[in-house]
Amino acid sequence: MPLQPGTPSAHGTNPELPQDADSVLQLAARSMFQLFADTAEGMMLVDRDGKVVWISDGYKQFLPALGFERESDFVGHSVEEVVPNTLMREVIATGKPILVDLLTNKAGTFLVSRIPLRDDHGDVIGALGMVLMAHPESTMQPLMKKFSRLSRELDETRKQLAEQRRPKYTIASFIGASPAALEVKRQARRVAQTDSTVLLLGETGTGKELLAHAIHAASPRAARPFVTVNIAAVPETLLEAEFFGVAPGAYTGADRKGRDGKFKLADGGTLFLDEIGDMPPALQAKLLRALQEQEVEPLGSNQVIKVDVRVIAATSRDLPRLVAEERFREDLYYRLNVVPIRLPALRDRLADLEALAEALLDDISRRSGLVHRELSAEAFDALRLHPWRGNIRELRNVLEQVSMMSDDLRLAPRHFAGVLPELAQAWPHADARDEARPPPPSRESAGAAPVRPLADQVAELERANIRAALAATAGNRVAAARLLKISRAALYDRLARWPDLGA
Ligand SMILES: Nc1ncnc2c1ncn2[C@@H]1O[C@H](COP(=O)(O)OP(=O)(O)O)[C@@H](O)[C@H]1O
Ligand SMILES: [Mg+2]
Repeated sequence: MPLQPGTPSAHGTNPELPQDADSVLQLAARSMFQLFADTAEGMMLVDRDGKVVWISDGYKQFLPALGFERESDFVGHSVEEVVPNTLMREVIATGKPILVDLLTNKAGTFLVSRIPLRDDHGDVIGALGMVLMAHPESTMQPLMKKFSRLSRELDETRKQLAEQRRPKYTIASFIGASPAALEVKRQARRVAQTDSTVLLLGETGTGKELLAHAIHAASPRAARPFVTVNIAAVPETLLEAEFFGVAPGAYTGADRKGRDGKFKLADGGTLFLDEIGDMPPALQAKLLRALQEQEVEPLGSNQVIKVDVRVIAATSRDLPRLVAEERFREDLYYRLNVVPIRLPALRDRLADLEALAEALLDDISRRSGLVHRELSAEAFDALRLHPWRGNIRELRNVLEQVSMMSDDLRLAPRHFAGVLPELAQAWPHADARDEARPPPPSRESAGAAPVRPLADQVAELERANIRAALAATAGNRVAAARLLKISRAALYDRLARWPDLGA
């Protein structure tokens, strides 16, 4: 919409400025609008209901980054559906412009301006949104730096708040209903009632720390402190002071006043010795003595302090092997191994994958303020194929990353491509199927499996069994075909369809 150039005067000099105030203001308004229109990278109009009714040619450059191919997917939709984090509706509701603002969404960060549009009676009938500058990071360095620092601080503060408000771990927060998980919980409940030393064994990320918290919370010591020492994280030279404390005057400098050790801090409560397998040999004897006598001797003192602590130790290492290699004292091992609880690896309790993912997604959304996501049935099928060497910690990280990287509410295998590329490859047809299918009924719909195209279900069953047969025969296709009671040709046909199976 180009501005009418001013009519040159008869003498060929500058055009005259109109003399009445109304005309001047109108001219000013038009000029300002033209200025915005010329300098803005894109403009959009929304109606009073918040529906996008028009976008400028310039605006179209942003559509791909917002996830739209065609203008018709964008125009005609409610503005917050198509532009995450927009405040256009607020402008319509309040009638107040937001002249300068930074809008951040999946398409990037933008310097934007939003102005309400009024009819002759002054009623708001819509709003105009302008992208004044795309990616202002480069031109507005100082402001952007401050902005990102503040956002980071805000995130951090939100996290801390959520952390403080989080209810204490209970044994019920150990998610899982598989036989292996139920057995872990049964043992944990039983041992919580006693003062016995507990040894939690399991790969990294299987929930040892969570379970230690839970056992403490379910024990008669719940109201007393729960104190953790992560042995692998403390330098060997500081470990002794960390455990047993330092007497006043033993050192000069920061420790001059003396310091309580973790045993003392845990008095009356529970001491959690994480990564006990990393305990330096030199300290193992002292630890054993403290455990047996329930007394500690702070560094630089010759007095013993009586303590009353319940010990829960955890390790992902093979303690009997460390004992055999004489890197872990046998007597300490027996002292700790009073009630061992073995935590299963995630791949050994895949039946719990859905419940775990749901609980983790719930926690992720609560802590981060992101919307709660759901996983499609294919996403679960795909996730079950991953080896999960990092167990539930890895699952959590994957879900967190995927949630951060997309605004979609339902996560399909393709969403995992950036985080677990080999998994997305193993699921080549997932995209099409996922899109074509209506969302499954909610899990509450009592046990009934969601109805899905029979062909998909059959294909999945075939895939799973072929995979199993190949695994059982160490990849021998002839033997696998015999096991499956199908012809070799039929097997090769399937392998051609799903090349990842034969890989
Ligand atoms: N059974 C479980 N239910 C829910 N979350 C779990 C479970 N096990 C582990 N997690 C989560 O996985 C992550 C790793 O658990 P953690 O207890 O630190 O494992 P470990 O100490 O065995 O390495 C944590 O975020 C924890 O909350
Ligand atoms: Mg741990």
